[in-house]
Amino acid sequence: MVITFMDLPIIDLDLFLSQPQDSPAVQDECKKAADALITFGALILRDSRVSESDNSIFLDLLEAYFAQPPSDIKKDERPELSYQVGVTLENTEKPKCAADEPCLRIIERLELSERPLDISAHSPDPKCRFFWKMGEKPTYETQFPGLNAPNVVPQAEHIKARWTPIMESWGESMKQAVESLADMACIGLGLPSNLFRDAGRYGPHLLAPTASDLVKYGQKDTILAGFHTDLNFLTIHGRSRYPGLNIWARNTGKRLPVKIPPGNHLLVQAGRQLEHLSGGLIKAGYHEVVVNDQTLQVVERRNVENPGRPLIRISSTFFWHLSSDYDLIPIPSLVERAEALDVAQIQLRGYVTDKPVYPPMKVGQQVQNELKHIALMA
Ligand SMILES: [Fe+2]
Repeated sequence: MVITFMDLPIIDLDLFLSQPQDSPAVQDECKKAADALITFGALILRDSRVSESDNSIFLDLLEAYFAQPPSDIKKDERPELSYQVGVTLENTEKPKCAADEPCLRIIERLELSERPLDISAHSPDPKCRFFWKMGEKPTYETQFPGLNAPNVVPQAEHIKARWTPIMESWGESMKQAVESLADMACIGLGLPSNLFRDAGRYGPHLLAPTASDLVKYGQKDTILAGFHTDLNFLTIHGRSRYPGLNIWARNTGKRLPVKIPPGNHLLVQAGRQLEHLSGGLIKAGYHEVVVNDQTLQVVERRNVENPGRPLIRISSTFFWHLSSDYDLIPIPSLVERAEALDVAQIQLRGYVTDKPVYPPMKVGQQVQNELKHIALMA
């Protein structure tokens, strides 16, 4: 069977928000959302509240920010806070997979034509990123204050004044969309509709635009972000101006080049916290960002249509987290389904998969473990 991006289901958030939760149409759409996360670890979301022009304003601001001299950008770095606010410069973050045995085995099991670009000789990623926290301050004493630090506003005069309103407005759109999708996933999984939303109420959510300099790193087959999964609960992306994001649908083993349809569409992918809480029923989705032929075509087109604009690929990414003090314990009804699915997969594929374990721990502990792995925390 040939799988194309068209197979990534489009979930209608407008329908969910406009009809009663117990209506058959809403129930079906929620089931479709949960099934998409189980099969693909990802889905496309349609949300009329999110406008293409807001995305555009956001991308323009971030292009201007990352076009500054590196010495100016460096002022916004906070290594003492594990880079969880402010900027992370290029060549800091290592893709976890490059040194991770279970992850390398996942690549080996993929058909040759479905594998990511070779990350064995690649480290760290040549990408910059800005973390803008979008979380609600916990009303209780948190065990993980370092992960709840205040935001950094860039110092440059031409950026400073418009920074906060644009980041807040775009971040809020993405947050609303992903939280509504979390409600849909709960309903589709047979859980109370607000279980995920409440578990993430005080999460250190991050609006996290990533920037890749396509002048410096614009050669075909350059890895901008190596094959990896995200450590948070759900990641949501707006449309980037440049193609290059590939995702892997875990239960099909296929690489899908992401093409988000124009107008009010977003991409949602499952992260490690959702994998842990669902006992592996929903697997964190692997992805990479590379320079491919399609990326180069857009570079050529923008050079003609937008001369003088910085050639920087911004990915409009938002990481939605569970609260740091939340107990990350797999939900029994989902663990049961995960085990049944594992048996079916083994029968289907004829090999035994690595059986991951999901020990109970605080979410903040899980985040710290993951950050050590990708070299952002000593
Ligand atoms: Fe990622």
